Amino acid sequence: MRKKIVAGNWKMNKTFEEAKALLSEVVNMVKDEVTGDVEVVLCPPMVYLTTSRQYITPGGRVSLGAQNCHEKASGAYTGEVSAPMLQSIGVEYVILGHSERRQYFEETNAQLAEKVNIVLEHGLKPIFCCGESRDLRENGDYMGYVKNQITESLFHLSADQFANVVIAYEPIWAIGTGLTASSAQAQDMHFELRRHIAGQYGDAVAQDTTILYGGSANEKNAAELFAQPDVDGGLIGGASLKSREFTNVIKARQ
Ligand code: G3H
Repeated sequence: MRKKIVAGNWKMNKTFEEAKALLSEVVNMVKDEVTGDVEVVLCPPMVYLTTSRQYITPGGRVSLGAQNCHEKASGAYTGEVSAPMLQSIGVEYVILGHSERRQYFEETNAQLAEKVNIVLEHGLKPIFCCGESRDLRENGDYMGYVKNQITESLFHLSADQFANVVIAYEPIWAIGTGLTASSAQAQDMHFELRRHIAGQYGDAVAQDTTILYGGSANEKNAAELFAQPDVDGGLIGGASLKSREFTNVIKARQ
């Protein structure tokens, strides 16, 4: 049985005081209002992760994720943060390959394969992002492009390793634009990605793989997106910055 997950990617937002207020509100609302088996992953900026841990009960419904990490375990990489550092402060998930990192920091599929490896080696779970540009969606083999992102960054893993990977399909044209993929577009892609995973690892592994949707998901459209059979939850950007709205998105998945 695959996990249902709603993850909040705060990106580069919130001051320290604002971050603490949001953490406290979300954790309390989730405790009071959310039932069922949905897991919530909060991904605040790196600098707040240690403090964030104090708001979270180990083994509970809410866990912590980082938005990135370096592909090496340690060394002279000024300004970077490593997987063992994240593991040592109680982080459980790491978002890898977000389109903003691919675009602004030129992360490649090969580099992301290294990041996936280091994250798994240290007992963390990658939330691996993939997705196509608007131009590809309109004029190209967007399905092939997204499948290739998965092939090149993930298919070197053993089935046991792959079992710890969460996929997040995020069409770039839908991120922060207010243009959500329709539930049918999301379902089509998720279905094809699951089939692609089955081709590599077999049907049982594919059926157990959590595939999240991201891209302008919010409290209004979440229920319809999450009702699709292959959409297991969401990676939420803008709507995760407001405690009421984010909790409503989580409740749409519970
Ligand atoms: O990681 C989250 C995604 O980039 C979605 O962001 O919900 O603001 O469109 P958004």
